[in-house]
Amino acid sequence: MGEAILMQRPEGEGFDRAGTLEDVAHGLSQPQKTLSSKYFYDRRGSELFERITELDEYYLTRAERALLQAHAEPLVAAVGPATLVDLGAGSAVKSRIILDAMVAAGVGRCFVPVDVSAGFLHAVAADLREEYPSLAIRPEVADISRRFELPEEIPRPALFAFLGSTIGNFGPLAARRLVRCVVDDMLPRDRFLLGVDLRKDIPTLLAAYNDSRGVTAAFNLNVLRVLNDRLGADFDPGAFRHEAVWNEGESRIEMHLVSERDQTVRIPGVGSIVFSKGESIHTENSRKFERPDVEALLAPAGLTLRRWITGDPALFALAVAGVEPGERPG
Ligand code: TRP
Repeated sequence: MGEAILMQRPEGEGFDRAGTLEDVAHGLSQPQKTLSSKYFYDRRGSELFERITELDEYYLTRAERALLQAHAEPLVAAVGPATLVDLGAGSAVKSRIILDAMVAAGVGRCFVPVDVSAGFLHAVAADLREEYPSLAIRPEVADISRRFELPEEIPRPALFAFLGSTIGNFGPLAARRLVRCVVDDMLPRDRFLLGVDLRKDIPTLLAAYNDSRGVTAAFNLNVLRVLNDRLGADFDPGAFRHEAVWNEGESRIEMHLVSERDQTVRIPGVGSIVFSKGESIHTENSRKFERPDVEALLAPAGLTLRRWITGDPALFALAVAGVEPGERPG
């Protein structure tokens, strides 16, 4: 059901032509050409991503959902959250697991789904109001990859969730900035719930981003179609191939689009971009974590890890952190 809504995510909503042109021109003029992963997600991209989450090789979504199903109840019992804030709620499939536990425990009062897509968010919110008549549903439109502020007057304690290992798609600076934005809104007894994918054997990691049916390849290549649609570029998606590589030093999967031949692509407003055969566009990172990496990410913002929840085998982790002990003056 959530999936049906996801497919209606409006295309090009809030599309900022000048910003996109600047961004694309900058990325494609670097020695290692890059394109921001935010251009993956038009309607077709969102549908393809939904299919990725159902692939045999893509264990992340199932592993995280299983952890939430097994641990939402004890987590809610320990935290007693009156509010759930879900950063990047999307279709709110995972939020519902936590909301169900909050309602069952009799503590839930409010849900704040945060998403960048206003039309989509409000459609999801309308469904949630029917499903959870006892909760105040207060959607917030925000781009969590930038500075954002959350409403202050929410019932406390609040649980701030950032799931799907999306933190791993952020660079180190952006990841730290996001954690800081959350901490700025946290009071003692509030908790940050962070879902992270764990380091594991490399073939398993590579397969998750290079599935046998080619869905991830189609998803990656879709970024070129998006730029053709939105900017009138003339990328030939057939002249690039998907590649997922493991970068050990950065502990991340990288997705690239490799040019199959020497070619020139024209992007109105940007100019001609020359590709030599074998040259790649870097389109996405997915960092893989171990517990100390997460502690190191949280500590500078003043967050202490309170629970580290993994399954057996330990594919994925849920980190629960808070601002106590109160060594934060002011
Ligand atoms: N955050 C998830 C991950 O890194 C989902 C995701 C984001 C993703 N961008 C992706 C999955 C690109 C596949 C390809 O896995």
